[in-house]
Amino acid sequence: MNRQNSQDNKENTPARKRLVIATNNSGKLREFREMLSSFGFEVISMKEAGFTGEIIEDGDTFEENAHIKARTVFEAVGIPTMADDSGLEIDFLDGAPGVYSARYAGEGATDGERCQKVLDEMHGVPRELREARFVCSIYFIYDEDDEYSVRGEVRGYIGDEPLGENGFGYDPIFMLNEDESMATISEEEKNSISHRANAFKKLSEIFKEKFA
Ligand code: IMP
Repeated sequence: MNRQNSQDNKENTPARKRLVIATNNSGKLREFREMLSSFGFEVISMKEAGFTGEIIEDGDTFEENAHIKARTVFEAVGIPTMADDSGLEIDFLDGAPGVYSARYAGEGATDGERCQKVLDEMHGVPRELREARFVCSIYFIYDEDDEYSVRGEVRGYIGDEPLGENGFGYDPIFMLNEDESMATISEEEKNSISHRANAFKKLSEIFKEKFA
């Protein structure tokens, strides 16, 4: 994409500065929008920013993948870009699904199929070996040579079966305690305790200094 064409022309300059979230996941986009609402940015999707390219996520870590996504979109659209890479790490599976969380049950599999694959692999594993964490790395490019990387985590364990209807991805099998999974709590509560929320708290300290 031609970067020049994608930039605001002066007559149409919006009142609020635009910030792109480099994700195709509508659940994540909603969470980011809510978290960023107080900083006066107009948070837009890649599609709204005119990004039609492909992003090849071939990093070995969440940090590398977040950087790749943010850099690819920023170079195409030329406005501040934020990307996250996130996933589930299970100690018993040596950190899997890890950076392969999205593709864990193969391309085109559903969230339900991915959850079931993990449940099958954890079948019969005792509670004390079911420890897991959601990890979120966020990479923010405000401008050339003005970039930030933060990481947040939330700890839990893998349940014996899916529980709850809220959230997305692995939320129904990620237990916070005996009664609650990440998919039984409200979106508001998830947004205050999640890996993304914890990463965002770090990022918001940067935003407060920079934009408040
Ligand atoms: P990516 O960060 O877009 O590459 O997604 C990684 C994978 O982790 C996806 O399959 C998501 O469903 C999953 N994932 C990311 N964040 C969450 C979350 O908050 N809850 C449940 N699953 C998540």
